[in-house]
Amino acid sequence: LDRTALFKLSYGLYIIGVKDGDKYGGCVVNTVTQATASPITVTVCINKDNYTNECVKRSKEFTVSILSEHIDRGVIGVFGFSTGKDRDKFAEAPHSLTPAGLPYINKGVTGYLECRVIDFTDNFTHTVFIAEVREAENISDEPPMTYAYYHDVIKGKTPKNAPIYAGEPQAEPSGAYTCGVCGYVYPGGAEEFERLPEDYKCPVCGAVKSKFILKSGGNL
Ligand SMILES: Cc1cc2nc3c(=O)[nH]c(=O)nc-3n(C[C@H](O)[C@H](O)[C@H](O)COP(=O)(O)O)c2cc1C
Repeated sequence: LDRTALFKLSYGLYIIGVKDGDKYGGCVVNTVTQATASPITVTVCINKDNYTNECVKRSKEFTVSILSEHIDRGVIGVFGFSTGKDRDKFAEAPHSLTPAGLPYINKGVTGYLECRVIDFTDNFTHTVFIAEVREAENISDEPPMTYAYYHDVIKGKTPKNAPIYAGEPQAEPSGAYTCGVCGYVYPGGAEEFERLPEDYKCPVCGAVKSKFILKSGGNL
């Protein structure tokens, strides 16, 4: 089996939003797909270890914020590389509530969907949710963020809870500064990195300069 054949599958990037009692939660996913047109349904795969998974199972409803290329990188950092178990992620991101009171990101997105879970099925590490779309709205004409753009243009990494995680990163050349939050490797070498202004932020997840770690060689 040549795993690289799977690298050619296409995806978008989204943030799932949930309401868990009086708390909000959510995470980045690349796995939202429209499944039927009448009624309009979507599927999404969410890792069983993710806080968002248990919230969707409990509340049976969620939003999908459709990320654009202009999404604040810090929002990807918060929703894609940290857990809502001990963090109020929506408090750190521009958001609004749907008429039903569910949170969605309102800046750096093309629009949002509000979905009601019809069914879900266990799929090894992930749960596949099937949901009916009961509300949908366009917010901007910004280009939607594709996974290819995230990976190839902004050099974004994918954590192990994502279904398309491709294994441990390869060894990096010694002297490479790497973001301690998302794993982005600064391409310009250690000396150049050290000369960057103190307000430099990771272009993938928005982490501050002090979160970068100098890899002294060998494996990450
Ligand atoms: C580019 C990208 C794609 C991701 N895709 C998925 C996905 O489809 N399903 C999933 O369960 N997690 C996915 N993740 C990982 C979750 O966003 C991540 O594990 C998050 O920290 C979970 O947060 P939670 O515990 O608050 O739910 C993805 C992350 C990134 C950065």
